[in-house]
Amino acid sequence: MEVEKLAVDGGAPVRTDPLPSVGNKSGRDVGDQEIANLAEVIEAGRLFRYGGEFVDRFETQFAGMLGMNHGIASTSGTSALHVAVGAVNPNPGEEIITAPITDMGSLIGILFQNAVPVFADLDPNTYTMMPESIEERITDRTKAIMVVHLFGQSADMDPVFDIARKHKLKVIEDCAQAYFAEYKGRLVGTMGDLGCFSLQQSKHMTTGDGGITVTNDDALAQRARLFSDKGWPREPGARGYMFLGLNYRMNELTGAVACAQIGKVKSVVERRRKAADAITERIADVAGVNPPFVREGCRHSWWLYPITIDESILEATPQQFGTALTKEGVPAGVGYIGKPIYMAPVFQEAQTYGNSGCPFTCPHASPRQYKPDDCPNTLEILRRVITLGCNEFFTEKDVDDIGRAVLKVARHFERS
Ligand SMILES: Cc1ncc(COP(=O)(O)O)c(C=O)c1O
Repeated sequence: MEVEKLAVDGGAPVRTDPLPSVGNKSGRDVGDQEIANLAEVIEAGRLFRYGGEFVDRFETQFAGMLGMNHGIASTSGTSALHVAVGAVNPNPGEEIITAPITDMGSLIGILFQNAVPVFADLDPNTYTMMPESIEERITDRTKAIMVVHLFGQSADMDPVFDIARKHKLKVIEDCAQAYFAEYKGRLVGTMGDLGCFSLQQSKHMTTGDGGITVTNDDALAQRARLFSDKGWPREPGARGYMFLGLNYRMNELTGAVACAQIGKVKSVVERRRKAADAITERIADVAGVNPPFVREGCRHSWWLYPITIDESILEATPQQFGTALTKEGVPAGVGYIGKPIYMAPVFQEAQTYGNSGCPFTCPHASPRQYKPDDCPNTLEILRRVITLGCNEFFTEKDVDDIGRAVLKVARHFERS
C-alpha cells in the first residue's frame, strides 16, 4: 500500500481551495430576500419592534413552523435561554442540571438568575446528557433540566421526561445547534416546556446574532415575553414593571433578516443531511476512523460533523490526526471547547458578582466545588472528538475531497 506524504510533512494537500464556510457568503444562504426585507424596514423608518411587522411575523412563523403556540424573539441564543430560565423563575440557590459540553450561553442565564448549574455526564457516543447521570444529580433544590442537543443531535428525551415528571421539574431545550433535529419523530424544541434557538452567524439560520424561545405553555410564554422586555406588559396606561427583567428585544432589522431566513432553514437542514450522508459514505470503510454515531430513531441536523479515531488502529493522537487533516485542506477542530465548561474561571474561581461568590455561596445553595473528573466521560469525549464542518453548500467535489483527505491521513497513521 502506497502511503502519500502528508501536507503536514511537506506533501501536496488534498485541496487548496477553502471549503464553504459559515463565516462568510461561501457557506451562508443569505441574499436578495434579506436585502429586500431590510430595505423595507429602512424605507419605512421603523427599526423598533413595536410599530414594525417583521419581529412579530418572525415569532408567529417560527413558532408555527415548529407547531408551537408561542415564540418570543430576543437578541441571541444566550438571551433566548436566559428568557427561558427567567420564565421558569428559580429561587436563588436552586439548581438546574445541564451539560458540561456547551457554549457559555447555556449557563449565563442560570447564573444571572442566581441559580446554580449542576453538570450531568455525557453519553460517550452521542455527546448528550446521560439520563442516569441526571438522576444522580437530583436534589431537593433541583428546579429544572436544561438539555443541550449537541452538534445537531437530540438528547435522549424519553428518560429525561420520566425523571422530570417524577421530580416535578421543568425541561428547557437548548436547540442552538439543532434546528429540525428529530427524536422519535418529534422536533427538538417542541418536547420540553421551553425550546431555545440561536441565530448567531454559524447556526442553521442566522441574523448574525439573535434568538428565539418557543413554548406551548401560556403562563410561561407570558412570563418569557415580560422577562425579555423589562417586565413591561405594554398595555395602555401606566408602565407597570411587573418583575425584574431585561431588554432582550429583537429589533426590526434583525427581524427582517430572520423572516427571510425562515423560508430557507428546512432546506439548509436537508442539504446538510445529504452532505453528511455523503461524507459518511466516503469514510465509513476507512480503517481507524469512526463516523458520527446517530441514535436510533433520531435525525441529526449536522451543525458539526464529529468523528473519532481508533488509536489501536492508528498511531496518532486525535490532535495529530486533526492537525494533519486541517493541513490537507479540511479544517478539523480537536476537543471542541477543550475542557468541561465547569473548569472555566467563572466556575472555578466564582468570578461572578464582585467578590460575593454568588450564586455558589448563596445562603440557600449547597456548597459546591466543580472538579475535573465530575464528568469522566466528558473528559474522554473532549480528548477524542474531532469536528469537521458540514455545510449546505458542500458540492460532490467537496465531500469527495473530505473523504480523500480522511483516507489519506488515516492510511498514513495506520499501525503496521
Ligand atoms: C449549544 C449552544 N447554546 C447556546 C449558545 C448561545 O448562543 P448565542 O451565541 O447566540 O448567544 C450557543 C451558540 O454559540 C450554543 O452553541
